Amino acid sequence: MKKVMMMAAAAAFVMGAGVMAPADAHAGGFNVKKCKACHAVGKKKVGPAWKDVAAAYGSADELAKVFKDGFKVGDRKVIAANGKWKSKAGMMTGQYKKLIKGHEDEAAKALFDAVARGKI
Ligand code: HEC
Repeated sequence: MKKVMMMAAAAAFVMGAGVMAPADAHAGGFNVKKCKACHAVGKKKVGPAWKDVAAAYGSADELAKVFKDGFKVGDRKVIAANGKWKSKAGMMTGQYKKLIKGHEDEAAKALFDAVARGKI
């Protein structure tokens, strides 16, 4: 009996973890402020200016698509347009895994919204 309950608890835990990301996404829990440490809309900081990012991707849908495909370095359009960013790709990959994965649509929309607003 005890063993069965433990297995049920473990299964509930795994399932809970599995549905957490979409639930968060629906709640609109994306925090764009965390991107500010390295990005600004109109100028380069640690990473490229977001107006250049927006220009390279053209639309939030296109950026979301690249995020959903795993944000592979070979698919990144800013790097494709300007190879000098490639040496810093690892830094952005870490941020992608930590902040964007599971929130691809909100992250892409937040970036384009920030560009439209003129600030992050
Ligand atoms: C620790 C610094 C850091 C943080 C925080 C950060 N970025 Fe970046 N980002 C970079 C660097 C460096 C690059 C350039 C390398 C690259 O393009 O992959 C970059 C590039 C990008 C690109 C362009 C990728 C390409 O080459 O096409 C996008 C889109 C992006 N960041 C989105 C975000 C979003 C959204 C957040 C917040 C969730 C964020 N970044 C947070 C450092 C950061």
